Amino acid sequence: MKGLVYHGPGRRTWETVPDRRIEQPTDAIVRIDAATICGTDLHILKGDVPEVEPGTILGHEAVGTVVEVGAAVTTIAPGDRVLVSCITSCGRCRFCNEGHPGLCTGGGGWIFGHLIDGLQAEYARVPFADTSVHKVPAGLTDEQVLFLADILPTAFEVGVLSGRVQPGDTVAIVGAGPIGLATIMTAKLFTPARMIALDVADARLELARQFGADVTINNAEEDAAARVMEITKGIGVDVAVEAVGAPETFELCTELIRPGGRVANVGVHGHAATLHLEKLWIRDVTITTGLVDTVTTPMLLRLIEGGRLDPTPFATHRFGLDQTEAAYDVFANAGETQALKVVLTGARIEPAGGQAVAAVAGAA
Ligand SMILES: NC(=O)c1ccc[n+]([C@@H]2O[C@H](COP(=O)([O-])OP(=O)(O)OC[C@H]3O[C@@H](n4cnc5c(N)ncnc54)[C@H](O)[C@@H]3O)[C@@H](O)[C@H]2O)c1
Ligand SMILES: [Zn+2]
Ligand SMILES: [Zn+2]
Repeated sequence: MKGLVYHGPGRRTWETVPDRRIEQPTDAIVRIDAATICGTDLHILKGDVPEVEPGTILGHEAVGTVVEVGAAVTTIAPGDRVLVSCITSCGRCRFCNEGHPGLCTGGGGWIFGHLIDGLQAEYARVPFADTSVHKVPAGLTDEQVLFLADILPTAFEVGVLSGRVQPGDTVAIVGAGPIGLATIMTAKLFTPARMIALDVADARLELARQFGADVTINNAEEDAAARVMEITKGIGVDVAVEAVGAPETFELCTELIRPGGRVANVGVHGHAATLHLEKLWIRDVTITTGLVDTVTTPMLLRLIEGGRLDPTPFATHRFGLDQTEAAYDVFANAGETQALKVVLTGARIEPAGGQAVAAVAGAA
């Protein structure tokens, strides 16, 4: 089989690797039908995530078809279409039991394309399959559910739920990349009165308006804090979501927030940011951080099935899985290509020598 292999900073190739096989009775082997690339994969390629060993297949977001299951797997079977999420749950450790598999200490958490081989490949070995994958409801296409593997639950859990967006709130979203746009999309579930998107790229602000932002501010060109104070009559926003991952945008969020408001940090930070307690201590501000747990994925799937949520506008570019290298080039140059998410589609080949995959109705 083939996969996209990381060979150290700046180096990745689509190449032949050993076939996947069941290693634990709780494993499943999944044929990848659709996968996508995440900004985090670009961080890995820059060398920002040193625990990723050269030789690791990248990718942590996919939809596929089960081709084989270990002896202990009881809830999925060959032929089932499944969403393979960025977070794996062992289902047994303290954190998994408390609803925080992002913090799993039993061998799960964010492991794909990080601590074990990932999902930008023709097949993947999926540990703890019973407690980690989500069956795709019949009738939904791969593209309809693919972005539930990471960006939708991340934006919803770490941005909207941690920020406790309430009906009538004014919400500022700093950063209108896939995560910021997914925050706009899922914040709507709570009917905020107003959403203000901030970014330094006008093309992203245009997308923010399309996704539902009421006001957009280019904070490289105007004094964002002054503008937000004007819009909110000098009070500030109820919720500010940091969706960039830079010291200045975190600090900006703490300037935009009203007394008693909530700053939800979603961005991954590589540098220290200053916490201005000398201004914040008296303002009753709540600041949250977090890694996604993906515990809301089943609920988000029901919303898609019910026609209440449609993440397909995130798909801007499509490639065959064997064109993953070209897809990385397009995704990494989003400023020029206007890429949001790229969809990598598998060839849906029946596995040689393995169990035949049942033809599945509704597959995209
Ligand atoms: N906490 C989690 O579990 C989790 C999961 C996935 C991603 N993330 C993080 O969320 C962040 C956003 O992800 P993404 O995929 O949308 O990233 P992205 O790089 O595609 O988008 C970031 C956006 O921020 C804008 N931006 C850059 N500098 C800015 C500035 N100074 N002011 C305003 N806007 C600015 C960019 O123009 C871009 O539109 C990243 O840091 C990512 O690593 C966190
Ligand atoms: Zn990701
Ligand atoms: Zn666990």
